Amino acid sequence: MSDFPLSAGGARRPLSGSRRVLAAGALGVLGVVTALSATLPANAAASTLGAAAAQSGRYFGTAIAAGHLNDSTYVATWDREFNGVTAENEMKWGPIEPSRNSFNWGSADQIVNHAVSKGMKVRGHTLVWHAQLPSWINNNMSASDLRSAMTNHITQVMNHYKGKVFAWDVVNEAFADGGAVGTLRDSIFTQKLGKGFIEEAFRAARAADPNVKLCYNDYNIDSATAAKTQGVYNMVKDFKARGVPIDCVGLQSHFGNPPSNYQQNIAQFAALGVDVQITELDVGGSGSTQADAYRRVVQACTAVPRCTGITVWGITDKWSWRSGDTPLLFDGNFNKKQAYTSVLNALNAATPSTSPSPSASPSQSPSASPSASPSASPSASPSASPSASPSTSPAPGGCSATIKTINSWGGGFQSEVTVQAGSSAVNGWTVKWTWPGGQTISSLWNGRQSSSGSSVTVTNESYNGSIAAGASTTFGFTANGTAATPTATCTSP
Ligand code: G3I
Repeated sequence: MSDFPLSAGGARRPLSGSRRVLAAGALGVLGVVTALSATLPANAAASTLGAAAAQSGRYFGTAIAAGHLNDSTYVATWDREFNGVTAENEMKWGPIEPSRNSFNWGSADQIVNHAVSKGMKVRGHTLVWHAQLPSWINNNMSASDLRSAMTNHITQVMNHYKGKVFAWDVVNEAFADGGAVGTLRDSIFTQKLGKGFIEEAFRAARAADPNVKLCYNDYNIDSATAAKTQGVYNMVKDFKARGVPIDCVGLQSHFGNPPSNYQQNIAQFAALGVDVQITELDVGGSGSTQADAYRRVVQACTAVPRCTGITVWGITDKWSWRSGDTPLLFDGNFNKKQAYTSVLNALNAATPSTSPSPSASPSQSPSASPSASPSASPSASPSASPSASPSTSPAPGGCSATIKTINSWGGGFQSEVTVQAGSSAVNGWTVKWTWPGGQTISSLWNGRQSSSGSSVTVTNESYNGSIAAGASTTFGFTANGTAATPTATCTSP
């Protein structure tokens, strides 16, 4: 990692002394199963982070270290505030498979079983990573031996946690911090298996568990326009195009400020048809500056339906991996900080999340190394001015539909469609429109879609077909192409 991590707006700024050490010493050196579904709109304000997040169908998790589970305040705070968890170290390859094919489940099981007993969502972290590897993974191994060790590791660990983990960081931090777009970090995996190791790992993971979400997780991919982000974006786009199983992208988000285009970045990944999760959030700073940065992170995630959850990388500043930056929501005595309150308020104000089931089953034969198409680069600024299609007045007993642009970026956009009942209640609805310029929907929620050429038809889901007289419901989608708001028709049987 360079000494100049991304800061607001993608600009680079020098690190303070302590952060420089931290970056060099840590990042630099390191280098259930139910899908969340749309839920009811937020009710009365919730008083804990997990409950507030749950109102919009999301989770709010924390990293937990098994070594602190004997601290009753730590466990009480975890249980009270969070509805999700990631084991900070215990599921990594070295700790969990210290000798070949001999697994040390104890510490990870402690965390997972506690979480499951409390109904929390568990993220699996992580299957293939260049850091914290066991010593038996070394350069003496042949490529085929490493491949078979990797496949066995993925299979055994995923089998052990089947049904308890909802998403796995299948590959962690595989991209380099410098170099051309798409450059991978040099590691034993690239050296022995080539860049196709990422695809091989995802295919092995899907074969091990078809029902769990498979994520790619990395740091410094928070800015929409950063070269490292573009490399990951191109990979996800390529995987989607070729049917390589991938369901989610994790933005670790270790920073001092979210980049100004952070929400756009989340939306552009979501537009590829994957969930996005903030996976290791910690924000250096204090007071209102830190609180404001945290608020912007939560607002960016909750503005995008497919941003399904946020995990902070620890509970208390005193045990953070970067404790000198006081980056968490609770101080060293487990007191709530100002940042806590701004996160809670932002979660309480959130709009619903949505997430389809994991992607379809893998094709059997892993193809050659992933291609990275330069044309797939994410682009710049989102459009600021939302527009809406003219709404048609519903006949009595009928309905009308209005398409509104929520967000747009080069090559894609996000829209919300309001379906309104006329003077009588509606029981089932169908909305139709025609794209004016070759747009294609990449992901749609709260409705069932069929398309034929430029014609789009969306019908209600089982839970939102009934609309009271004069009331309305919405569905949303992301699409490729230039934002457009064609006139939509609505019919009800
Ligand atoms: O458990 C041993 C202990 O027995 C030994 O005495 C001690 C001596 O150093 O080390 C202890 O292990 C340490 C482990 O944390 C548990 O505390 C390791 O040295 C130390 O390297 C390890 O650091 C972890 C780091 O990943 C390793 O790369 C941090 O806790 C953990 O927060 C950090 O998490 C990573 C994510 O997994 C990936 N993204 C970046 C993030 C921050 O670096």
